[in-house]
Amino acid sequence: MITIFENYEQMSEYTASLVAEEITNNPKSRLGLPTGSTPIGMYKNLIQFGLDWSNVETYNLDEYEGISHSHPESYHMYMNKNLFLHVNLKKENIHFPDDQYDKTISGFGGLDLTILGIGHNGHIAFNEPGSSVTSRTRKVKLTEETINANSRFFDSINEVPKKAFTMGMKTIRESKKIILIANGQDKWDILNECFNGELSKDRPASILQTHPNIQVFYAG
Ligand code: PGA
Repeated sequence: MITIFENYEQMSEYTASLVAEEITNNPKSRLGLPTGSTPIGMYKNLIQFGLDWSNVETYNLDEYEGISHSHPESYHMYMNKNLFLHVNLKKENIHFPDDQYDKTISGFGGLDLTILGIGHNGHIAFNEPGSSVTSRTRKVKLTEETINANSRFFDSINEVPKKAFTMGMKTIRESKKIILIANGQDKWDILNECFNGELSKDRPASILQTHPNIQVFYAG
């Protein structure tokens, strides 16, 4: 079930074309959106389509706790830089996780398409290994592994937030469509285990094997 691309650029272009198709077919699409290094190419390509985003609703997967939204490494700033400032999305249609998130999402009828990355430990959003498959949006403690992985974006590891808000496993699984993207050979083993191995709570992404409409993309 893993589609392998020749390179990162091809994977990014193709993923962007699928998101663009979703928005074209349904101008009121509700999208679940990721941050991290992997989706940057997808956003770059997506902007080029010059689509009308005025009725699109976005729901980010996660946000750090304990840093301001204007901190350069906050996911608010990441999204501004990589997407929001380049399209005509309405401010009121941009959503980040909070205590009301699941209510808001289900109130609008659920997510149409969610794009995900994957961590080296199999996390999706900040649902770390052991996360319940029925979990909803909540505040979580980040694992040492995730804090180490994210320290590359901060001046020092001490500055990396230790907690975050994350969309829940169940919230993600309820998205009508899912595209999971992974880039780099260091992601292959976990991707392979998650999608060609046994389902396990210890590898959160593996739970998506049973999703009725998921595509998994890899560029080595
Ligand atoms: P990355 O992060 O795209 O920066 O590798 C993915 C993730 O941890 O979800």
